[in-house]
Amino acid sequence: MHKILLLPGDHIGPEVMAEAEKILRFLNAEMKLNLTFEQGLLGGAAYEKYGEPYPEKTQQQALAADAILLGAVGGPEWDNIERSKRPERGLLGIRAHLKLFANLRPALLYPSLADASSLKKEIVSGLDILIVRELTGGIYFGEPRGIRTLANGERQGYNTDVYSESEIRRIAHVAFQLAQQRDKRVCSVDKANVLEVTELWREIVTQVAQQYPDVQLSHMYVDNAAMQLIRAPKQFDVMVTGNLFGDILSDAAAMLTGSIGLLPSASLDANNKGLYEPCHGSAPDISGKGLANPLATLLSAAMMLRYSLKLTKPAVLIEQAIQQVLEVGIRTKDISETNKPFVSTQQMGDAVFNQLKETLA
Ligand code: IPM
Ligand code: MG
Repeated sequence: MHKILLLPGDHIGPEVMAEAEKILRFLNAEMKLNLTFEQGLLGGAAYEKYGEPYPEKTQQQALAADAILLGAVGGPEWDNIERSKRPERGLLGIRAHLKLFANLRPALLYPSLADASSLKKEIVSGLDILIVRELTGGIYFGEPRGIRTLANGERQGYNTDVYSESEIRRIAHVAFQLAQQRDKRVCSVDKANVLEVTELWREIVTQVAQQYPDVQLSHMYVDNAAMQLIRAPKQFDVMVTGNLFGDILSDAAAMLTGSIGLLPSASLDANNKGLYEPCHGSAPDISGKGLANPLATLLSAAMMLRYSLKLTKPAVLIEQAIQQVLEVGIRTKDISETNKPFVSTQQMGDAVFNQLKETLA
């Protein structure tokens, strides 16, 4: 039996989650996957009920689960509450609590969506990048941090970027091992010309590389990496980087594929237990309108089946169904062409659902 915890979260989170749940329940029944489902609260939704973005109850559910699927958290209504209670802290809290240090963000271009990319077709067609982002360290978690008042009365904000050798080593191993299953190239992204923390990063990644002679390692400064992602993104296979650079570069990589509404992610611990979530946020500006693209969440569900539950077949079925739906031209607003018709969140979910039904019939 596989215990799955569903955390819909805030704004478009519940909208995209509803589509993923529908499809997971269907596959579970049809293919006898032995999945059980439980719902929980995270982010703003949890704050409203418990006064905490990652309450005790959710912590227990998360520990007991075999895998977790998350919608998205956050919204302007919680912008002004105490910092430690904000929805994003719930997300950072669950990542840290479950030691989900390895964040996998695959940016893959579907051939039928080459026109939806903001870049020219020839630059992006065939794009297949995997960003491996360190997720429980770096400046996101480094101490000291805060906003202090200086002697002259002026306030000063400060954060600390820290990485220990062991943190760098374990994420490097993840990147090299994933590269072995792909095109066997790793590009490590840092700012070693300025930041000591990434000087150490570069040194350790280089050391780890010696254990993977079949994988080719290169290094790139983050500013150049941002430029290269937009100039010639197909040069990359696996990119490995720290928490902050990975956050930024993965949004950029997402856009190459047409929409951030297509980018799934997996956040794994040392035993492949994981939290799966779309890379897009809670998009308060479009929430409640049926405009959200559920595909990143469906792709996240597929990653969950594959990585944490080792259920490759249903994972492949979901991915194929999505590809087929895109091939016949079904589009949510974010990937539709200007003035062309588009479908709602639910209609997109139904289209994938019906495709799966047909495949399994
Ligand atoms: C992401 C998000 C989060 C992050 C936010 C919501 C805390 O942007 O998963 O990329 O910065 O990690
Ligand atoms: Mg982000």
